[in-house]
Amino acid sequence: MAVLFFKERSHAAMYRKSRLSSPSQVDELVLNYLKAKKGKPFTLAVDIGCGSGQSTRGLAPYFEKVVGIDMSEAQIEEAKKVDGPDNISYRQGLAEELDFEDGSVDLISVGAAAHWFDMEKFMKEAERILNPRGCVALYCNEVPRILGYDNCPENPARIVQEMFALLKPYENKENKAVWTEYQEIFDAITFPDKERAEDIYIKLKKPISWFIGYLNSSILYKSYLKDDPENAKATLEKTEQRLLKTLGGSSETIVEFSIKYFCLLASKPE
Ligand SMILES: C[S@@+](CC[C@H](N)C(=O)[O-])C[C@H]1O[C@@H](n2cnc3c(N)ncnc32)[C@H](O)[C@@H]1O
Repeated sequence: MAVLFFKERSHAAMYRKSRLSSPSQVDELVLNYLKAKKGKPFTLAVDIGCGSGQSTRGLAPYFEKVVGIDMSEAQIEEAKKVDGPDNISYRQGLAEELDFEDGSVDLISVGAAAHWFDMEKFMKEAERILNPRGCVALYCNEVPRILGYDNCPENPARIVQEMFALLKPYENKENKAVWTEYQEIFDAITFPDKERAEDIYIKLKKPISWFIGYLNSSILYKSYLKDDPENAKATLEKTEQRLLKTLGGSSETIVEFSIKYFCLLASKPE
């Protein structure tokens, strides 16, 4: 099962280095929604599928307590390595069996992880642990797109597309859930009060090496690597060389990226 890659220590370490913190636009959207639906106080937020804490730390200033939960011990170890405020803690656990008391949580936040969950079991747990009008936020992002390539000999998007075409045999239902922007996951949310926020774009500048690390840490690429290590490594190397050639400079050259996020929001009935 692809989800088992998250249990590998080397993958968790790579994940910590190459994955992004949740953007402030998404954090603000979620907090405004929670404020409108439930209002203050914001006592406890739980970030499920927290990975190495990228999606957890941004919540800390707004809640008395934030708990990051992940099924992977390796990811939790990586999360604990990063300095963070005292009101955050991390522990191993499953989205489908949450060890929180009934009606004790204000916000359940899930960054880039809901597509791995058994939504039926997760929603039962969400319903149990949330306060009345407490909220669920399930967000994710698409693959970063390189901007500012007008004068490049080759369009970098095409280079990335060609790599993804080779990964097609390794696509699974989780990838499809992301590419359909969580359509089925939206339907699986049992709270009647639910909505979708789309087209949240952020821009950021990062070295090309960061993007290669991002591709390298994707589960789709990991599946290819496991199945056919030689060709997988050659594909990533070729992608890197082509990107370097068309963008000019070295792997540390800074490039601008645009990343699209989408977010599902729902509030538990009174
Ligand atoms: C793509 S990472 C997302 C990490 C982080 N939230 C972020 O925004 O980058 C998905 C994480 O979900 C975790 N995960 C997958 N299924 C899970 C489940 N059923 N219960 C808890 N964690 C799960 C994986 O171990 C992995 O660390």
